[in-house]
Amino acid sequence: MRKSMSVLAGALAVGLALTGCSSGGGSNGSDPKDPNQVEVFTWWASGSEKVGLDALVKVFNEQYPDIEFINAAVAGGAGSNAKAALASRLEASNPPDTFQAHAGAELSDYIAADQLQDLSSLYDDLGLTDVFPDSLIERLTVDGKIYSVPSNIHRANVTWVNTEVLKGAGIDPTKAPADIDAWIADLQKLKDSGVDSPLALGTEWTQMQLLENVLIADLGADGYGGLWDGSTKWDSPEVKKAVGQYDQLLDFVNSDYTGLDWDAATQILIDGNAGYNVMGDWAEAAFTQAGQTWGTEYTTWPTPGTDGIFDFLADSFTLPKGAPHEKAAKDWLTTISSEEGQKAFNVAKGSIPARTDADPADYGDYQKTAIDSFANDTIVSSLAHGAAASIAWSGDISSAVGKFGSDRDQDALITALVAAADKALS
Ligand code: GAL
Repeated sequence: MRKSMSVLAGALAVGLALTGCSSGGGSNGSDPKDPNQVEVFTWWASGSEKVGLDALVKVFNEQYPDIEFINAAVAGGAGSNAKAALASRLEASNPPDTFQAHAGAELSDYIAADQLQDLSSLYDDLGLTDVFPDSLIERLTVDGKIYSVPSNIHRANVTWVNTEVLKGAGIDPTKAPADIDAWIADLQKLKDSGVDSPLALGTEWTQMQLLENVLIADLGADGYGGLWDGSTKWDSPEVKKAVGQYDQLLDFVNSDYTGLDWDAATQILIDGNAGYNVMGDWAEAAFTQAGQTWGTEYTTWPTPGTDGIFDFLADSFTLPKGAPHEKAAKDWLTTISSEEGQKAFNVAKGSIPARTDADPADYGDYQKTAIDSFANDTIVSSLAHGAAASIAWSGDISSAVGKFGSDRDQDALITALVAAADKALS
């Protein structure tokens, strides 16, 4: 999903929206009259994310050999193109059979718009309330009903570290700086040692995720959580401090950051051209697929100042109202929820299984740290990945953060963040 792919997918999404046609109902082979098909909509279109999806499809094909999997993926990290393409399809009453949605506020948007079917009876049939953790079930439930099946849990407050690059500047890669200021001091050391852009960064949503990490570091779990219900003000001294530090961090990033999707930004670190990248743990799959080993070529820590906090997001799959292949969609959801499906998918994807009965021994060393943190740390909801704020609210924040990248006007950013919160919470 390099730059060119993203641009292509964006153009495709716009094209689909303009022509009113979509990948459903024939153009990608989906035939509403053929019951033995399932059209699955995600943004796992290429690279390490596609490898994760392929692993899941392999289990699905074994469990349901008569059903044809139709891939309706739209490229663009974090659903940056997919969500708009999906909205057009739902608007045109042309839903896929199932689509990827983040647990939490994003899912609530689709439920409020009456676009999803209640899956409570599937949960009863498969005994799923017993196998997923309460913190996740809470974020999937609205008015006592459950509307999606989670495939995984990702962590968004991870700093990925190139060990050789840090050692080259005399920095111990195994020790996380205590807070953002200490981290900025290390970034300066790297720069002084000749690393031009020590912090790898990408397109708008990755910028928002970096700001989200700094907010968690400066506000703590409760203060950050309060941003989403109005109990923490967006013009509080702590938010202003976070914005100031975020501004400083931008002094250390690659100059082409606005045009790079996450995988291209993470690749800068894999290639040894940066010291750090703040990214969700889908990056784990990119490092392993590049043949690197956690603890050797790279390592990870919770982003400085966020130790003890797990910045949570989960992908889940829905059954839209009007899905043409409802029975096959339920089969897909059954595979996702199964022990086998969760293991195959998560081992490949870098995430941890949503099921609590999974065996940590099946997972890599990084993933073991995430399993432990999810079980023991304080959980907060990710902004950039749909858990904390509605699609409209996070879209407003994302635009403000993107604009900040060019004007670097801290006051204007705070004003825009306050306005976005007022609009969302009014
Ligand atoms: C997140 C999603 C992850 C991963 C990532 C990058 O929003 O939950 O599964 O795909 O985007 O695209």
